[in-house]
Amino acid sequence: MTGTNETRRKVFLGLLGGVAGLAVGGGAAARVLVDHEAKVFWLDGGGATYTFGVNELGQLQSLYWGAALAAGDKLLPPVTVEGNSSNEVPIAISPYEFAGFGGGLTTEPALKVRFPDGVRDLDLRYVSHESRDGRLVLQLKDVKRAVHVSLAYAMDEASGILTRSATVENRTGNWIQVDQMAAACLNLPYSDDYQLSFLSGRWGGEFMLQTRPVTPGAFVLESRKGVTSHQANPWIALSRGGTGEESGPVWFGALGWSGSWRINVEMDAMGGVHATAGYNPFDFNHRLKHGESLASPVFHAGFSNEGFGGASRIFHRYQRERILPHAPAPRLRPVLYNSWEATFFDVTEAGQIALAEKAARIGVERFVVDDGWFGARNSDKAGLGDWVVNRKKFPNGLGPLIKRVNVLGMQFGLWVEPEMVNPDSDLYRAHPDWVINFPGRQRSEARNQLVLNLARKDVYEYLLKKLDELVAGNNIEYLKWDHNRTWSEPGWPEVGPDQQQRLYVDYVDNLYKLLAELRRRHPKLEIESCASGGGRVDLGIMKLTEQVWTSDNTDPYDRLVIQDGYSHAYAPAAMMAWVTDSPNFVNKRVTSLEYRFLSAMQGGLGIGANLNHWVEEDFARARRMVEEYKRIRATVQLGSLYRLVSPRNGAQRSATLSVSQDRRQAVLFAFLHSSMMRAAQPVIQLRGLAPDTVYALRPIAGNAAPRTPSKASGAYWMGNGLKVALEGDFQAAAFVLEALEA
Ligand code: GLA
Repeated sequence: MTGTNETRRKVFLGLLGGVAGLAVGGGAAARVLVDHEAKVFWLDGGGATYTFGVNELGQLQSLYWGAALAAGDKLLPPVTVEGNSSNEVPIAISPYEFAGFGGGLTTEPALKVRFPDGVRDLDLRYVSHESRDGRLVLQLKDVKRAVHVSLAYAMDEASGILTRSATVENRTGNWIQVDQMAAACLNLPYSDDYQLSFLSGRWGGEFMLQTRPVTPGAFVLESRKGVTSHQANPWIALSRGGTGEESGPVWFGALGWSGSWRINVEMDAMGGVHATAGYNPFDFNHRLKHGESLASPVFHAGFSNEGFGGASRIFHRYQRERILPHAPAPRLRPVLYNSWEATFFDVTEAGQIALAEKAARIGVERFVVDDGWFGARNSDKAGLGDWVVNRKKFPNGLGPLIKRVNVLGMQFGLWVEPEMVNPDSDLYRAHPDWVINFPGRQRSEARNQLVLNLARKDVYEYLLKKLDELVAGNNIEYLKWDHNRTWSEPGWPEVGPDQQQRLYVDYVDNLYKLLAELRRRHPKLEIESCASGGGRVDLGIMKLTEQVWTSDNTDPYDRLVIQDGYSHAYAPAAMMAWVTDSPNFVNKRVTSLEYRFLSAMQGGLGIGANLNHWVEEDFARARRMVEEYKRIRATVQLGSLYRLVSPRNGAQRSATLSVSQDRRQAVLFAFLHSSMMRAAQPVIQLRGLAPDTVYALRPIAGNAAPRTPSKASGAYWMGNGLKVALEGDFQAAAFVLEALEA
């Protein structure tokens, strides 16, 4: 097993509670039941049951996944599913847990290997299993050759989220080449009315929720870009015809992987629906010597009978309690100021100090200097890779600025983009061989930069040293870790041609190792994952980064749509949003400061406006909104999110409600985007409150309609609802409901 693979496996095993690992959350693993005689395995947790077993041929087949079954329920034994014609090999389309490519399989394989003699047939059969502390590991082996696969399963007791991964080990005595490898294949109960929901987008428009019927054939979601990508995010949800926001079944899952990935959702010839998620087979091959192994990423999957809202609340909870750093109690996001949109590359000590003084006045807790502080970085054309302070901009280093920021009562944070280099940089001039490239071929640039080959040991060690020195030498408590281009010409010339494509796995493993090691050395350090906005948001990176940057599009209305999509998969606990200038730099839309605050206050709040242009009244308003935010942020970040009215598809209004876990506080954000139909402005019925508890209503911004009671029961707010007095386009209001003592 390679070292980095071992690290990732430990993180996963640690997550399952079995082995001490890195960044491990708390929480208990759910019950695993094994019927040794029938060879049937059950995992029960959080209202869900997942079962599978060994069929008559010794292959692993799914049995049931959905709402919890009763103890003592008996399922029919697993048998291979046949097609309706003798022209099909019988095993072609069974609902396999993890099928090898071979033996006539015609659905998506979970594992495909080739042997030195040209054989590409792999037929995996059950060998043994072990169940300990809520973790179930099954050993499989090819019918003829010593290719061993172990499948790890666990279920989180509280949320019912199932984690699955696989490891393939070569004990053949010769090399094998892995051409395709998934973490898991998940099979859905038979039905002909499935809908697939997924998130797609582009720069400035990430996390757009898409839904399409599942029909015969396959639908592929993927990144071929070396990074998670803006274009598609590795999350899916499968629902049924009648499923809505708050009712009906949803099966969902996300892959914890920040490199190229693929999720294949297919309906086979007999109507079975399967989702196979793992490494992207596009340009993939990973050669294993005798004794070596390859671990897949982890697939995290769950079930809810309470619609998309129920599904995302379960998943958010799981992310808070099992994924994010410091789980099960992730730290609250401090209010941040970032100078990017205010100064772009024009950063200087005096300019940043002036902004810091203003930021401190409105209650900011963390001051962040973005791009432009290092090397010859006066634009995006030069300097990337040279992580030394630019002495023209900061004559005495970062020290005086950081000191001032700290005296003002704020933490200091810094932007870095460690994995990249501008050809016009000292680093590239010294090490032109450090980038991903094919010798003698073009090196395509994007944003004037190339990608460093982090799979290389020397690059890994260089970056660790530089970042370690940077953090150790300054009181830096936060890094915004950017990644501003996708891959091209993915060559690694220093290793043999048959080893080069290990890049897809080794790069990401080293990225995780680098982040984990920096965190280990600097326990105070917090990190944000950014990739030209939301290009690297996934459960792999989220184990190592407290927060994610959802989009470079900071327009508050567009952001509501982006946040709505994001929240289907990922937790508000990690989601950052900034209040920036109006008109917005992306789309020139003009909005009020209050509207911008109320949009940005739905996750971790940041301010990114040019404070030098603010007048006294802006400071006073901002100070008040930041104060309000601090009173509600625990509920917004760590509470249960209800998407009451979706802003998608050009809706005229939208609303979200966050309810604290103890249901003592709730926060409502309501927006009117178009006032064309103002006469029809309906009441908003709240959800998730305690019906018998009396809640006092207090506006944060805007007003409720005349004669709205100032206090009423949870039943009233949920049944009768709340009418918000909003008039005019792009208006917003927010309210806090506080439970009164009984
Ligand atoms: C990317 C990020 C921005 C900003 C710039 C700096 O585009 O998404 O937030 O940090 O880089 O160059």
